[in-house]
Amino acid sequence: MIETQRLIIRLAEVADVQEIIRYYGENREHLQPFSPTYPPDFLDEAAWLEQVRIRLPEFASGAGFRAFVFARDLPNRIIGNLNLTQVHRGPFQSCVLGYNLAADEQGKGYMTEAVRGAVAFAFETWRLHRVAADYMPRNTRSGAVLERCGFKVEGNAPAYLLINGRWEEHVLTAIINPSWTRTAP
Ligand SMILES: CC(C)(COP(=O)(O)OP(=O)(O)OC[C@H]1O[C@@H](n2cnc3c(N)ncnc32)[C@H](O)[C@@H]1OP(=O)(O)O)[C@@H](O)C(=O)NCCC(=O)NCCS
Repeated sequence: MIETQRLIIRLAEVADVQEIIRYYGENREHLQPFSPTYPPDFLDEAAWLEQVRIRLPEFASGAGFRAFVFARDLPNRIIGNLNLTQVHRGPFQSCVLGYNLAADEQGKGYMTEAVRGAVAFAFETWRLHRVAADYMPRNTRSGAVLERCGFKVEGNAPAYLLINGRWEEHVLTAIINPSWTRTAP
């Protein structure tokens, strides 16, 4: 679990499944232009129960953290989604960050706060050296979140990810852990 001033970012539990379906159902049109095409079972209870089941061991093994964002003042309501995935160890010590926010929760600084918390978790708890995040050039809101959080642009990759059925160019960014050590000091 990641806690920030206004937010709790945690794995979903079985009791959250209906809330996940509400979140994606209500925000589907808002999120689809920036997301891979949703599978046909995306709003099915059984599919999300399975996700709840697999995400706990995924996190426990250090392979990833696919979580939801909750506001402390309404702790059962999902306002966003935040994932740290593609965790690589060895000489890379890196992961990839992804996120989204409910349409009506934008403009309050929630994702900036969540991303700062996630980067601190990746650096201090997972002891990673690098967190990468990529966005489409026209997704200026996402670019602004990353810039505020200290991510640096490393380049542009044409036809990088299949988003909403099209291979889309992405701006590649990353933040480096300036005080990385292999073990806790
Ligand atoms: C990308 C996305 C998460 C950005 O959301 P956002 O609300 O713009 O980002 P934040 O939550 O950090 O809020 C920042 C805004 O809140 C304002 N704000 C208000 N209070 C604030 C505070 N305490 N701290 C920081 N910013 C604050 C900022 O000024 C900024 O406003 P602006 O856009 O007018 O400059 C959201 O647009 C989204 O989910 N889009 C669809 C999915 C998507 O694109 N995902 C990312 C794919 S790469």
